[in-house]
Amino acid sequence: MIDGYPLIPEELPAQFKAAMRRLAASVSIVVAKGDDGPVGIAATSITSLTADPPALLVCVNRTTSLHALLVPTAPLSINLLGRDQKMISAAFGGGAPREERFRIGEWVDGGNGLPSLAGAQANMECVIDAMLAYGTHSIVIARVLRARVSDGVDPLIYQDGGYL
Ligand SMILES: Cc1cc2nc3c(=O)[nH]c(=O)nc-3n(C[C@H](O)[C@H](O)[C@H](O)COP(=O)(O)O)c2cc1C
Repeated sequence: MIDGYPLIPEELPAQFKAAMRRLAASVSIVVAKGDDGPVGIAATSITSLTADPPALLVCVNRTTSLHALLVPTAPLSINLLGRDQKMISAAFGGGAPREERFRIGEWVDGGNGLPSLAGAQANMECVIDAMLAYGTHSIVIARVLRARVSDGVDPLIYQDGGYL
């Protein structure tokens, strides 16, 4: 045991990564309020948690700029990308400097003081209810206060290191 986690065989990390490359997931942009404006990252780790109350979880790496802003009661804007929004995923996934990311795509006032992405598959205004640290990440439980959806269903899917 190191730091409370069991020792793992040498080959397991690579095998785990190979397995996860086969886990297809839709891509979202998660946005929180920073001191100098909004901060956002691309995330595939959004999962529906429960409908009562409407809540989801997102797993955020502690090395990201977003993580320092995540505290209980903080608002979040969660935007599910459409298949035509690969550029936005690439930018918020690290392809663009933090201060330039919101220049890519059309961002409008989401109503909770955070930007909301126009043309997304869905936009959700959330508030953080709880957090759990695990390994390199935190599991963030976000309660959904408002949700809007687009007319057609055509999400952006990420798998095997690329987009469908
Ligand atoms: C498709 C895709 C999915 C990602 N999913 C996650 C995720 O679920 N959680 C996470 O912490 N980082 C995820 N990342 C990585 C972050 O988006 C990336 O590290 C981000 O640019 C960090 O922002 P920063 O430079 O402002 O810290 C993902 C990146 C991509 C391209």
